[in-house]
Amino acid sequence: MDIDPALEKTVPAIPNLDVLIEELHKAFATDKVNVDFVKALLAAYKSNPRDWKKFAKFDTHRYTRNLINEGNGKFNLMALCWGEGHGSSIHDHADAHCFVKILQGTLRETMYEWPSNSSSESGMTKTEVNDYSKNGVAYINDSMGLHRMENPSNCDSCVSMHLYSPAFKSCKIFDERTSHENEVKVTFYSQYGVRTPFGAVRFA
Ligand code: SIN
Repeated sequence: MDIDPALEKTVPAIPNLDVLIEELHKAFATDKVNVDFVKALLAAYKSNPRDWKKFAKFDTHRYTRNLINEGNGKFNLMALCWGEGHGSSIHDHADAHCFVKILQGTLRETMYEWPSNSSSESGMTKTEVNDYSKNGVAYINDSMGLHRMENPSNCDSCVSMHLYSPAFKSCKIFDERTSHENEVKVTFYSQYGVRTPFGAVRFA
């Protein structure tokens, strides 16, 4: 990601995840979100597993969402853990900003157009595919389209950090072949490093 040099000068040093979280709280203190500044903050943090290992909880069968911070009610920050070949459905972002920072491995984003008519049984249109590697930063909101995320590797896991503002409890997922949509809940496998109790819903 290229950062505007003028903007880069205004970004503080981010030596660790705690400082990043403090700076994110400041950046989201008002209702106006400066997307480029938040991207620059995320880019300024260099991933160190010592900072985030306690949040990175994997499941054998699918990717997990692990809550790191609730951003004073302004955002949710979470670590997503992707085993080899794990991927999400095609989804929207419920009118929220979605920032992604890669902490480990590579994450592939496949973007799609919004279906023109979800009752027409027609396939979805793919627009681009982007691979993000360690320390890379991505951004999407609903005006840019839909996406699915996946770990393309069959031998390496991937950990990514996602910030959603405002936080949302559900989003829409789409069937690539028919464009049919369904509403699903956004749930956490763990919160603040502690596994969500057995019996509670842990996956969307
Ligand atoms: C998810 O939260 O399940 C998908 C990842 C994303 O789009 O940020």
